Amino acid sequence: MFDRLKTQPADKILALMAEFRADPRADKIDLGVGVYKDATGLTPVMRAVKAAEKRLWEEETSKTYTGLAGDPAFSAALGALVLGDSVEAERIAAVATPGGTGAVRQGFELVRLASPGATVWVSDPTWPNHLSILAYLGVRMRPYRYFDAESRGVDASAMLSDLAQTQPGDVVLLHGCCHNPTGANLTLPEWQAVADLLARTGALPMIDIAYQGFGDGLDADAAGVRLLAARLPEVLVAASCSKNFGIYRERTGALFALGDPGRRGLTQGTLAFLNRQNYSFPPDHGARLVTMILTDPDLRADWEAELDEVRRGMLTLREALAAELQRRTGSDRFGFLAQHRGMFSRLGATPDQVERLKTEHGIYMVGDSRLNIAGLNAATVPVLARAIVATGI
Ligand code: LMR
Repeated sequence: MFDRLKTQPADKILALMAEFRADPRADKIDLGVGVYKDATGLTPVMRAVKAAEKRLWEEETSKTYTGLAGDPAFSAALGALVLGDSVEAERIAAVATPGGTGAVRQGFELVRLASPGATVWVSDPTWPNHLSILAYLGVRMRPYRYFDAESRGVDASAMLSDLAQTQPGDVVLLHGCCHNPTGANLTLPEWQAVADLLARTGALPMIDIAYQGFGDGLDADAAGVRLLAARLPEVLVAASCSKNFGIYRERTGALFALGDPGRRGLTQGTLAFLNRQNYSFPPDHGARLVTMILTDPDLRADWEAELDEVRRGMLTLREALAAELQRRTGSDRFGFLAQHRGMFSRLGATPDQVERLKTEHGIYMVGDSRLNIAGLNAATVPVLARAIVATGI
């Protein structure tokens, strides 16, 4: 039977990760996969996570199953982190999922059950795995214009004009903050305009928020999500703890479905059903750590402090790279690097130039010229700037 299998397309980001690992050059620089690295190139376990793990090891008396939706304390704690007080608890159905990708997948599955002919509108560009999962599930998708290749900012009027074509039953996939892959984000008035538009067309927003705390801060990064949650009757939110808690491999995330309180039980039951069909119980270890950190004032303060150091570190690198490129080119055309937020920026290089950065300079970035700012440090910023100029970008 297995001889009938067809080779599946490799995920470009993960393929690049493998290629980087196999490269023997000592001075290679990894700006590929979206993983935070400190100045020494390490992806550290955060202090609060270490402390929570120690406490959990001491206190945990059983590893019997949780509920199908995961531990309600986790959904409540993460829900509060993401949604703040924008929405009443009776409107929130929630399930724990294996990471943010699990939440995205369950969100699409919920849409497919509720609205089989739905079109999911995706930003052009978006995280490639969004497209891959939608295609795999057979869900129809349509791109909406988002990134302005010239300014490297958001083309909000083009976006709004495309989204004006959405209809009830459609879903609009948005990035809550730190847009992946471009780094260009909606301003609050633009979020407001999106909310007004969707209130008119009746399409349902699904917000993927995987980098809360990596842009302008925990609350600022969730402002768009909260605005939509407060304004619109139904909203899906896929949240990841991989990056902001640094617990990538623990697979920790949740899907929130906000809607009418009278239908909450039905939605909650459907989400639990989807968990059961796909993997039964969601992973619990990371969820328990997150719950402990968010509900213990000392752990939370330490986590927020460390997350803020991480965020500021990336901002400093952005500013340093923009300044270095300004110095070397005598122009402001890379100023967008300091304006973008989160781990990523789309540099605007051609695939050929990206290839040359890799082969000639040992600098790895995704083929669309997405670079992971957190892969840099003070010493490699000038190396990258020199290579960008030498490659004619
Ligand atoms: C990325 O975009 O690099 C991250 O979200 C990691 C992944 O799974 O692709």
